[in-house]
Amino acid sequence: MAVLEHLTSQQAIDLENKYGAHNYHPLPVVLSKGEGVYVWDVEGKKYYDFLSAYSAVNQGHCHPKIVGAMMEQAKTLTLTSRAFYNDMLGKYEKYATETFGFDKLLPMNTGAEAVETALKVCRRWAYQKKGIPENQAKVIVCENNFHGRTTTIISFSNDEVARENYGPYTEGFVKIEYDNLTALENALKSNPHVAGFLVEPIQGEAGVYVPSEGYLKEAKSLCEKYDVLFIADEVQTGIARTGKMLAVDHEDVKPDILILGKALSGGVYPVSGVLANDDIMEVITPGSHGSTFGGNPVAAAVSTAALEVIKEENLAQNAQELGELFREELNKFIPTCDLVVKVRGKGLLNAIVINDTEESSTAWDICMALKENGLLAKPTHGNIIRFAPPLVMNHEQLMDCVSIIIKTLDEFKKG
Ligand SMILES: Cc1ncc(COP(=O)(O)O)c(C=O)c1O
Repeated sequence: MAVLEHLTSQQAIDLENKYGAHNYHPLPVVLSKGEGVYVWDVEGKKYYDFLSAYSAVNQGHCHPKIVGAMMEQAKTLTLTSRAFYNDMLGKYEKYATETFGFDKLLPMNTGAEAVETALKVCRRWAYQKKGIPENQAKVIVCENNFHGRTTTIISFSNDEVARENYGPYTEGFVKIEYDNLTALENALKSNPHVAGFLVEPIQGEAGVYVPSEGYLKEAKSLCEKYDVLFIADEVQTGIARTGKMLAVDHEDVKPDILILGKALSGGVYPVSGVLANDDIMEVITPGSHGSTFGGNPVAAAVSTAALEVIKEENLAQNAQELGELFREELNKFIPTCDLVVKVRGKGLLNAIVINDTEESSTAWDICMALKENGLLAKPTHGNIIRFAPPLVMNHEQLMDCVSIIIKTLDEFKKG
């Protein structure tokens, strides 16, 4: 079968099943085109995308400015490695650091790589600046975290499916309850060699858990008190998703280390990065960290365009306004329906909790019904569905999506 031959959905699914590793369980829809808030399957059916590739496509599918920047750069120079300078990276680093208010950017490709990078920076800082004895550094992390899939990252996950049979695991992590400041202070007090606290400002994969107001601000002050780096993983919450450029901006918190990925490229190309000020980033020296593709000219061009789009199109404000509307509309509906317990979230990162167990297939079944009705979303657990549309959505489209969701839940309840 030639690669370019037109496939039916079933043929495409069969090919993936036969020739691809089974490391995902996708909804059975095969997409072949995307534009703005919409995607189309190979049979030509149109859907609202309510996942945005796990919040990577914040700027909308195939944004012309971002795709244009990529195509222009791809015709000129794609990859030099960091063995040589290229004329795009410095300009991008200046733009990104000014945008987020840090001295330095360390460019990488995927979210997990950026998290690994942040952990390495934090450990080095602990040994070289804080004076923690060699190999004793600890990083505090939260229960139910999701930071990616590398061996070190799954070492401190409590998702057994993600961990099982991948040991031995990396040491040096202390796990505490999320959204619990007493637990954080106890961990800071009782472990003498803490280097950092790694936290998601909202736990996305866990089911869009928004911590109590003031949690991030107080956690940051505790980190300051104990001379520990506050590391914000904004791979999913960052770049306007929650109604501000960063989710930490809701509490005016400035992380010591900021981790970005996903929407840093508008979902056009794998781009991630770690930002920090000089007193921290200076621990990284030639040869101590790197990536062949990190900071390549295409990534630099794409990411610059992706950040410009966020600002030019006021996507943070749009996410804030539409997010409020979304929760307001669902909150009107929820009391009329036994199926949904609550809606929660910030900006356009939201989830509904279904009245069933975590192990049930109800959320999956509802997503299948939503798909039939022209809206694509994915459960994060058996009873939680995340709703994260592209931030270029307009008022009318959002209300249309709300009707689809309510109609689907109503039918499901009756069916
Ligand atoms: C908070 C957070 N950190 C890290 C990652 C990992 O990113 P990637 O899948 O690009 O490695 C994700 C992915 O969902 C995430 O949500």
